Amino acid sequence: MNRTKSIVVATLLVGLGLTACNSGNMRRNPGKIYAPDMTYSQAYDAYTYNPNFADSMSSRKPVEGTIAMGHELPDHLKEGDTLAYKSYTTALRFNDADIKEAKRIYDIYCGICHGQQLDGNGPLYAGGEGKFAAKPANFKEGNYLNMPAGQIYAAIKYGKNKMGSYASQLDIKQRWMIVAYIKKVQSENNGAAYTFGASGTTTPAVDTTKVDSAAVAKH
Ligand code: HEC
Repeated sequence: MNRTKSIVVATLLVGLGLTACNSGNMRRNPGKIYAPDMTYSQAYDAYTYNPNFADSMSSRKPVEGTIAMGHELPDHLKEGDTLAYKSYTTALRFNDADIKEAKRIYDIYCGICHGQQLDGNGPLYAGGEGKFAAKPANFKEGNYLNMPAGQIYAAIKYGKNKMGSYASQLDIKQRWMIVAYIKKVQSENNGAAYTFGASGTTTPAVDTTKVDSAAVAKH
């Protein structure tokens, strides 16, 4: 091998070696860090002592008025303001799947007294023979048949005489779902026309075939 040849081979080898080390835009070490405290913050673990707060707890409560994801805005009703109850309503609308779920929770929380037929004669009352002495409202009759939706909502939230409040068991959406379910059954039993229906009859299913896999891979 002559001199020129070996120079060419050596240059090629060095060049190859250099490109082999360069793996595109990906950097495998962070290099020099200007403010390491910011890059690697000294986080407090949940449930540990924290000297920065008067109560020394690291886990903080959400800011007052925080609304959890998927929940409705507060209703601002005041207990006892019966006039406000009557005109109170919602923009929520429910599809068939919601109403099916509403029936399920109605049967659990309300049906035991008000009856699965909504006739005020659930197993706890059982025509006066049951364990609960007060006669529950019959939703298919008299004033109850045309009771304003907001008044039903208020009965769930605050209770009514011998009936307790269900505010801690049912969130705002669930209360309205039950109201809608009662109104739907009432509309089928000489009550006013049902107005809480969503235009779609079923919850739109997520079409997984349309998920952009390239976009997912980037994340
Ligand atoms: C433990 C039995 C019981 C359960 C459970 C119960 N209720 Fe009642 N409810 C009653 C009784 C009793 C009354 C009659 C109160 C009165 O007017 O004295 C009543 C009254 C009502 C009224 C009429 C309110 C008014 O302004 O006159 C509505 C509406 C109502 N209930 C809805 C519900 C809904 C919705 C649920 C389920 C979340 C429910 N109730 C669960 C016992 C019950």
